[in-house]
Order: sequence, then structure tokens, then C-alpha cells
Amino acid sequence: MEIRHVGVLGCGLMGSGIAQVSAMAGFDVTVLEVEQRFLDKGFSGIEKSLAKFAEKGTLKEKPEAVRARMKGTTRNQDLAGCDIIIEAIIENLADKRKMYAALDPIVKKEAIFASNTSSISVTEMMTATKRPERFVGLHFFNPVPLMKLVEVVRTIATSDEVYESAYEFGKKLGKVPVRTSDKTGFIVNRLLVPYLLDAIRAYEEGVGSIPDIDNAMKLGCGYPMGPFTLLDFVGLDTTYYITHVMYDEFKERRFASPPLLKRLVMAGWYGRKSGRGFYDYADPGNPVPGKF
Ligand SMILES: NC(=O)c1ccc[n+]([C@@H]2O[C@H](COP(=O)([O-])OP(=O)(O)OC[C@H]3O[C@@H](n4cnc5c(N)ncnc54)[C@H](O)[C@@H]3O)[C@@H](O)[C@H]2O)c1
Repeated sequence: MEIRHVGVLGCGLMGSGIAQVSAMAGFDVTVLEVEQRFLDKGFSGIEKSLAKFAEKGTLKEKPEAVRARMKGTTRNQDLAGCDIIIEAIIENLADKRKMYAALDPIVKKEAIFASNTSSISVTEMMTATKRPERFVGLHFFNPVPLMKLVEVVRTIATSDEVYESAYEFGKKLGKVPVRTSDKTGFIVNRLLVPYLLDAIRAYEEGVGSIPDIDNAMKLGCGYPMGPFTLLDFVGLDTTYYITHVMYDEFKERRFASPPLLKRLVMAGWYGRKSGRGFYDYADPGNPVPGKF
């Protein structure tokens, strides 16, 4: 089945990015939200991003032409004719299952359902529908228009045909797809999360200061940013949540939250978004490392 029309659920950080790259790749896109104001906010971000691409000369056509391929809606029925549905609503299993169960009888039978979840089991979501063989994970990275990777996740029920269509779709979006299976964390978080948690443990054990550990990994390994800078970017609350899901899946210490991460989250210090995490961002251009 050829994918022509893309449905995106949620117009937040990730949904708006997925809608944008789909439209930039020439697909018609319909984005579903719970309220018009979330669509307005998401589309205004998309328009700004398209203008930046145009300014840099990296857009093949006029921003208005890309924008014209995108529609927003608050009605489930408007997704009926979509060939693929990519869900990017909040990271909550009950909400996601409810959404899939509501859309399953509406969206045409041949359509593929894909979730952008970072940590929830795709298998647990697919059972909310009567199309488990047409269900995959498509895990994009933030910011979607700039990050080249998409993890294409297959469950034990995904059909070969659907998996290959989803993989090819990832390529058509200009991404580099990688194949992975439905194990919590997929490839990237499976490797990244223990590394980030080990950096916190190293700090707790007095191996180095926060800026020294950051500089060591930046300059010694060529990473674009150190682990504490990255943790503050991702959000400590988000990381803490992921540690729970991953520890629950594998029961291994390397996925367990170090005490300091929990303390920072309990204090409401979530990183950049709350103004304070491993660094203090009172002056955002000059973050000051914490001493804990
Ligand atoms: N933020 C990241 O860096 C990142 C990276 C990869 C994957 N993800 C995953 O992407 C998903 C979305 O994350 P986000 O950061 O974009 O969240 P977000 O909070 O920015 O956006 C979620 C949007 O979904 C909407 N929504 C909630 N319930 C809905 C419903 N029933 N129908 C339609 N819309 C609904 C909300 O109004 C909100 O606009 C999550 O599953 C998350 O794990 C996030």
C-alpha cells in the first residue's frame, strides 16, 4: 500500500515536528489535537521553522506550499482516509490506548498505526486495536526537523510488509531509519540512559565535578555536550520517569535512578525548562554548575 496521507496525533513538541517533516517530504498531513489552541500553537511553531529552512535555502519549495499540505482538526473522523497514523500524544499508556481504541474503527483497515513513544511498550498499545499486525513504533528525536534518526520498532505481531513500509516511509521523510524490536528504550535509550545515570553516580562518588565530567566527555570522546548538560536538556523529570520504566523492564541496577537524580526531581529542579537542574540557568547564557 502506498502511503500518501499521514495522520499525526498530537501537535506538541514531537507531533508538530513529525507533521512538518511529513509535509516537507510531500505527504498530505492531518493533525489531530484535543483543542484548537494546541493546533494554533503547534502550527505557529511549524511556520517559524519552515521560514528558517527557507531562509537557509534548504527548502525545495515555498514554505506556503508545504504549509498548504497540512490541516489541523479536533475530530477523529477527519483521519478516516489516512494511510499511516503516527501518534505523539502525552506519554501515558491509558490515554494512548483510549486514543487507539477510538480511532481503530474509524481509520481505514489497511492503514498502519505507529507510536512515537519513548518508553511505553508498543505491544501493550497494539492490543487496544484489532490491527496488531499493522502496528509499529516510529521513534523520532527532538527536534524532529533536524535530527536524522528514526528507530523503527517491530513487535512480535508486526507483519513483514507493514514493517518494511514503515521503514521505507522513514527514508522518504529524509531520515536514517534503524531497525529495532519492542524492548523498552529501543537502541538509543538502552545505551544512553545507563551512561547518563553512571555520570551521576560518578559525581556522587567524587570522581569529578559537574563541569569536569562534562568537559571530560566532550573533549575526550568528542560528544557534542557532556552528560549533565544533556540531562538538563532532556529534563530530569523525563529521565527519572524513563529510569522507572526501564528498571521495571530489566531489573538491572544500571537502569535504576541514583539518589541525587531523585532528590533534584523532588525539589522540582527539572533542568533547563525549570531554570535549575545540575546547572543553574538564572543567566541562561552562563549556566552555573550546582554543588550537591
Ligand atoms: N520530547 C521528546 O524529546 C520526545 C522524543 C521522542 C519521543 N517522544 C514521545 O513523543 C510523545 C509526545 O511527546 P511531546 O514531547 O511531543 O509531548 P507534548 O506534551 O509536547 O505534546 C503532546 C500533545 O498531545 C496532545 N494530546 C494529548 N492527548 C491527546 C489526545 N487524546 N488526542 C490528541 N492530542 C492529544 C496534547 O494536547 C499535546 O499538545 C510522547 O509519547 C513522548 O514519549 C518525546
